[in-house]
Amino acid sequence: MSLATTYLGLPLGSPLVVGSGPLTDDLDTVRRLEDAGASAFVLRSLYEEQVKGEQMDAFFNSENHEDSSGEAMSYAPDPEIPFGPDEYLEHLRRVKQAVGVPVLASLDGSTPGGWTSFARLMEQAGADALELDLYHAASDPDRSAAEVESGMIELVRAVKRTVRIPVAVKLAPLFTAFAHFARQLDAAGADGLTLFTRFHHVDIDVVELEVVRTFPPSDGRDLSLRLRGVAALTGRVKASLAVTGGVQTGLDVVKATMTGAHVTQLVGALLRHGPAHLATLRAEIEAWMRENDWPSLDEMRGNMGFGRVADPAAFERANFMLSR
Ligand SMILES: Cc1cc2nc3c(=O)[nH]c(=O)nc-3n(C[C@H](O)[C@H](O)[C@H](O)COP(=O)(O)O)c2cc1C
Repeated sequence: MSLATTYLGLPLGSPLVVGSGPLTDDLDTVRRLEDAGASAFVLRSLYEEQVKGEQMDAFFNSENHEDSSGEAMSYAPDPEIPFGPDEYLEHLRRVKQAVGVPVLASLDGSTPGGWTSFARLMEQAGADALELDLYHAASDPDRSAAEVESGMIELVRAVKRTVRIPVAVKLAPLFTAFAHFARQLDAAGADGLTLFTRFHHVDIDVVELEVVRTFPPSDGRDLSLRLRGVAALTGRVKASLAVTGGVQTGLDVVKATMTGAHVTQLVGALLRHGPAHLATLRAEIEAWMRENDWPSLDEMRGNMGFGRVADPAAFERANFMLSR
């Protein structure tokens, strides 16, 4: 029985990838996750705001970072930021040394600009691939959807021109014509599409008159939107597909694979249950495959995609009309 998969051209032992977030901040945790079955890691994102403007000037002018050691920096990193640019590269090198599986670095931004050169430094520091978190709140009434989208496509092109390693793009679910946009990213050279970014929740403190941001833990309900998104893309793009959001159980991984995902990224479930949960998931997947006579994940991948199911409209009907 094989759980092997290929993601971004990288052969992986299973689709169980540790997603971008705090789990990769600590080397001991990273090693425990690998021992429990993590097939790859995505580091936390380095944010555009952290790399651009004066800070970036200081970074790029301070020394040649081709083989940056991470020590002598001429700027003072913001203490609120867990990793400044230089610390990020150093941490990336350490994680790479600590594990034998691929490590993806993550850049978060929405505007093309010189900061994308940081992608090259991540490549030089040993990243096996990059994940670009293309979040854009798009709340500026002067910018059309077409402008926002073409800016993002240009960003992907700029990063692809800069690095040779594969580049995945992590998308938000808020696009009017999501599948069309995904195909444009595919044409722009994105090697993978990660569905979907989970937003911070916004609330209003009506006494203090403040906007309050929270990030409540995900649960199984987050998965549905991702299954629909991947099912709409499988067989229609060349890029690898990843699900992130709401993957909790082995059966969730099976569902994601059937819609067309090459990997599933986990954060919330591992924060809740610890690294050993990866071994539980693997055992659940294998038990399910044995019971249902599936020799490999490859054979089921995409069998529930839009192009393969008898009633693709079942994925698309989001309203209350009753089906017959
Ligand atoms: C504490 C925390 C920090 C995160 N940091 C990042 C980040 O830096 N970049 C990113 O792309 N996603 C980040 N994420 C989002 C996760 O990668 C993932 O997409 C999201 O949590 C949904 O997956 P889950 O249901 O498995 O938690 C973070 C999530 C958590 C819980």
